[in-house]
Amino acid sequence: MVLVLVLSMLAFDVSCTQAFLENGNRIKSRTFLSPEFIMGPGSVESKTYYDIDFPRGHIALKSFNAEVVDQAGNPVPLFETYFHHWLVGKYYEHRPSDRNFTRNSGLCQGQILGQYFGLGSETRKTATDIPDPFGIEIGNPAEIPEGYQEKWYLDVHAIETRGVEDRLGCIECRCDLYNVTNDEDGNPIKPDYKGGLQCCYGETRSVIPVEIFTLDVTDTGKRLHGLTGISPENGCQVEYAVESCTATNAAGNGCVDIKRNNLTMPTGGYVIYAVAHQHVGGIGSTLYGQDGNIICTSKPIYGNGNEAGNEDGYIVGMSTCYPEPGSVKITAGENLTLESNYNSTNNHTGVMGLFYLHIAKQAPHMTFSHPPVQMHESIKGTTYAWSIVVFIGLAVTIAVAVHSWLKEKERRWLQPSS
Ligand SMILES: *[C@@H]1O[C@H](CO)[C@@H](O)[C@H](O)[C@H]1NC(C)=O
Ligand SMILES: *[C@@H]1O[C@H](CO)[C@@H](O)[C@H](O)[C@H]1NC(C)=O
Ligand SMILES: *[C@@H]1O[C@H](CO)[C@@H](O)[C@H](O)[C@H]1NC(C)=O
Ligand SMILES: *[C@@H]1O[C@H](CO)[C@@H](O)[C@H](O)[C@H]1NC(C)=O
Ligand SMILES: *[C@@H]1O[C@H](CO)[C@@H](O)[C@H](O)[C@H]1NC(C)=O
Ligand SMILES: *[C@@H]1O[C@H](CO)[C@@H](O)[C@H](O)[C@H]1NC(C)=O
Repeated sequence: MVLVLVLSMLAFDVSCTQAFLENGNRIKSRTFLSPEFIMGPGSVESKTYYDIDFPRGHIALKSFNAEVVDQAGNPVPLFETYFHHWLVGKYYEHRPSDRNFTRNSGLCQGQILGQYFGLGSETRKTATDIPDPFGIEIGNPAEIPEGYQEKWYLDVHAIETRGVEDRLGCIECRCDLYNVTNDEDGNPIKPDYKGGLQCCYGETRSVIPVEIFTLDVTDTGKRLHGLTGISPENGCQVEYAVESCTATNAAGNGCVDIKRNNLTMPTGGYVIYAVAHQHVGGIGSTLYGQDGNIICTSKPIYGNGNEAGNEDGYIVGMSTCYPEPGSVKITAGENLTLESNYNSTNNHTGVMGLFYLHIAKQAPHMTFSHPPVQMHESIKGTTYAWSIVVFIGLAVTIAVAVHSWLKEKERRWLQPSS
């Protein structure tokens, strides 16, 4: 089975002159195809593609979507090819051997959860558009080191479940089903790790930039210098396991696993967009401010049909929050509480409790000269340019095309990957 990713985008021209001259349609929409990849029954695709086709130039992204489609362009349902996650991130490259990866604004350490964009099975029904006048600024020449180019990688993790006996076990990456004892790097998997990523690897307006934060309910808050792997000594563990409730618990809390964590925000601003990421079994996640007020509640949308985008029993979307810009503020140093709830009628492995937050340093009605919160130098430097750029936008659709069968696998698999 061949899989291909398609990126489709929507963008405004960045140049000030053009923005002023052209009063017509300044939003550009682009679609890009990723390299093909091939899957057989029960196989796992886990691959990073470097230097993917991506819009170039100093622009702002307005939305970013993804979909799995087959070679004919038809959407592929999750019960055939399960989209565990896709991630898009940025690096600066001098030579292919000299790549400097950058990350979003927080909170985890190193490259853990450092992506700028990324969702999983819920992609089809999760809103990702960023309201005007906000945008995710990319390609800012002032931020790109001398002699380097800004490039983007795409990480895809898909699990083929056609014909497998235990679909939930497969998509929850249960170690016993994958028959592995070592992780992708060859390190032994701890006996108490029952399932998760370690077991299913394979191969006229102005734009106000938003910062992307990825919060993780498993974040221990520890940051051991030099440690980049996933461990409790090192902060974000990304995934966790939910134990089934006992008969007694069932009577008590109705079999809901509640995981709460406190996270300190390094910087502040206004919440523009927020969404949680959960796996099957998830029943919602809430982010609270230090005063106990709800910043955002994001709930899964479960499918109940047979068609792609509505697959029965899968999370096909997450509800999102778009607070009126300026109305929900987070202050630097504020301690947020993240709560992730799962249905614990059954055991679940490799579940996640992530929360994406887009935060702007200022709301539209506030003047540029008196931002409410301290601004980064790089943003200060370009404030004037941003205020005269009319508008810029971009949407990306990733589509994965699924195709022929296993016998083609070896032939196609041997595509060079950088
Ligand atoms: C790339 O990263 C290395 C180590 O993280 C750092 O020493 C170097 O200054 C970076 N180079 C650029 C151009 O940012
Ligand atoms: C599991 O892996 C072991 C060692 O790699 C192998 O000997 C065994 O046959 C595998 N079992 C199954 C059911 O694939
Ligand atoms: C998180 O903060 C709240 C209120 O500030 C506190 O009651 C709670 O014990 C904290 N929880 C953890 C896990 O630290
Ligand atoms: C947040 O929590 C930390 C650690 O518990 C504490 O030191 C800090 O004062 C708190 N911040 C605020 C704004 O209350
Ligand atoms: C949890 O799942 C069980 C079995 O699927 C279901 O009967 C129950 O209603 C669910 N509970 C909640 C709180 O969603
Ligand atoms: C969950 O797993 C535990 C041990 O790992 C097992 O004893 C229990 O029966 C399982 N519960 C369900 C509902 O499968």
